[in-house]
Amino acid sequence: MAPALLHHQLPRLLAAAATAALIIMTRMMMVSASHVPTIAFDDGFTPLFGEAMGNMERSPDGRTVRLTLNRYSGSGFISSHYYHHGFFSAAIKLPNDHTAGVVVAFYLSNGDVFEKKHDELDFEFLGNRRRHEWRLQTNVYGNGSTDRGREERYLMPFDPTAEAHRFSILWSSRVVIFYVDGVAVREVPRSGAMGGDYPSKPMALYATIWDGSTWATDNGRYKVNYKHGPFTADFSDLVLRGCPAAAVRHDDPAALQLQLVGSSADDRCAGAEFELMTADYAIMTARKRMEMRRWRQRQMLYTVCYDTNRYPAPFPECDVNMAERQKFWEWGESKVVRPRVRGRSSGRRRTATPAPQLVSLQQAD
Ligand SMILES: *[C@@H]1O[C@H](CO)[C@@H](O)[C@H](O)[C@H]1NC(C)=O
Repeated sequence: MAPALLHHQLPRLLAAAATAALIIMTRMMMVSASHVPTIAFDDGFTPLFGEAMGNMERSPDGRTVRLTLNRYSGSGFISSHYYHHGFFSAAIKLPNDHTAGVVVAFYLSNGDVFEKKHDELDFEFLGNRRRHEWRLQTNVYGNGSTDRGREERYLMPFDPTAEAHRFSILWSSRVVIFYVDGVAVREVPRSGAMGGDYPSKPMALYATIWDGSTWATDNGRYKVNYKHGPFTADFSDLVLRGCPAAAVRHDDPAALQLQLVGSSADDRCAGAEFELMTADYAIMTARKRMEMRRWRQRQMLYTVCYDTNRYPAPFPECDVNMAERQKFWEWGESKVVRPRVRGRSSGRRRTATPAPQLVSLQQAD
């Protein structure tokens, strides 16, 4: 190769090398992000209620927590810090048998600090009668938007009482993504139109089990029956990644409020935010979006986006698709995804054969 030519091409070669290095670095970051380190309970969490009743038990290695609901009390724990954005995850195993009225929740909130202007991101698990499936609900609130609920409900493509499954929430300054076993199932991008409804103040992570008899199962028709208790939910593979904004304190909520409002405005969390936004769980690829659509087609029982009775104009973050919309009633329930009553032997087979639901979808096409 002639030196003159090399000299001439050098800037381009360097640019190409820099691009390649950047791609490699980005990929390395993405790969490392998918192996998210889990923590022991004591390294990030504090009991919230029910512990004194013996309703919160830690495993000997401190990495699994069992929450119990019995006729005397539910139970729960909270992260020891509030976080300004982050990635939060747990493997959760739900109680089996007759669990009507039982609610298990895994969520971010600052409702204890901001009574009227709170933010919240929810996974809620709604128990059911024997042989009827648990339902999963997600919800999003920002700045006290409690009169604008953004519920979605799904069936889970597995039996959540047979073994633990992973539920994760990514919350960055740009997007909220809910994951089930690593599959993105709901994406809420932040937009100007969404305004304060996008959660923006630091939140703590909660895990709870409680009696939701008044609403959880068929609008309160089936209540908790303690003859079938105690009800236990196990939480393991705990992940807390993000910028800790302030320590949880129950002694002086007013001081905490000031601290949280302050940290929403400062840029102390900028480094953590960059790390968060470049992690693979914060990036929606075309493939992930396709997987998400497929999951939602098969599992989604209700979405607020197609509930035109409640909200004639859909929320700005709704990805309204006319063909998909026809598969939902005007009250937001799916016409094609149906819960199944499990027969004596079909419970175990469910995971392997979600086919019946798929067939009905194809017929509806
Ligand atoms: C939050 O709500 C209050 C009213 O409760 C309003 O004054 C304020 O502007 C809202 N903040 C944002 C960011 O929308």
